[in-house]
Amino acid sequence: GLKKKEVNVLCLGLDNSGKTTIINQLKPTNSCLGEKNWCHLLQAQAQDIVPTIGFSIEKFKTSSLSFTVFDMSGQGRYRNLWEHYYKEGQAIIFVIDSSDKLRMVVAKEELDTLLNHPDIKHRRIPILFFANKMDLRDALSSVKVSQLLCLENIKDKPWHICASNAVQGEGLQEGVDWLQGTD
Ligand code: GTP
Ligand code: MG
Repeated sequence: GLKKKEVNVLCLGLDNSGKTTIINQLKPTNSCLGEKNWCHLLQAQAQDIVPTIGFSIEKFKTSSLSFTVFDMSGQGRYRNLWEHYYKEGQAIIFVIDSSDKLRMVVAKEELDTLLNHPDIKHRRIPILFFANKMDLRDALSSVKVSQLLCLENIKDKPWHICASNAVQGEGLQEGVDWLQGTD
C-alpha cells in the first residue's frame, strides 16, 4: 500500500476551496504542540493564506508516509497546469467548497476532465475528496456533494469523501488515515 513510502500527492480543486489551508494543517510543524503563543502564531498563519499562484510543492512526513504534495492553484487560468503533474501523482486530494453551490457544476466538470485524462483514466489511483467548509451555515453535506459530483460512478479507483473544516483542522485526519490505508 501507500504505507511507509514516499508518495506524490496532487491537491486539486477550484480556487478558494481550501487546498492550501488543508495542506498547511497537514504539515506536522503546523500542529499545536503546547505553547500558547505558538498556537496564536499558527492561527495567524492559517488566516494569512493567499491564493496560490501556479502551484507550490510541500514536503513533509507523517508517521507512515513521506509526502510530496503538489498544491495546485484552482484559478481558471492555472488549471491547465494540473495535467502536467498527473503522471507523477500517486494519489489525489480533490477539495470542494461545500458552500459554493453555484460552482458545484464547475467542480464536477473539472473532476470529469481529470477522470477522463489519459494519464489518470486507466490507473487505480486513490482519490480523497474533502467536502470542505462544513462549518459554513449553507454548506451541503458530504452525501449531497457526493451525489452532485456523481462519485458513485467512479468504479475503477478507490475513493473516499470526508466533510472537513480546514480552518479548525476537523475531518482532515480521517481523510489522511484513509489515504494511508489504500493501495
Ligand atoms: P487557490 O490557491 O486559489 O486555488 O485556493 P485554495 O483552494 O488553496 O484555498 P485557500 O486554502 O487559499 O482558502 C481560501 C479561503 O477559504 C481562505 O480564506 C481560507 O481561510 C478559507 N477556508 C479554507 N477552508 C475553510 C473551511 O473549512 N471553512 C471556512 N469557513 N473557511 C475556509
Ligand atoms: Mg492555494
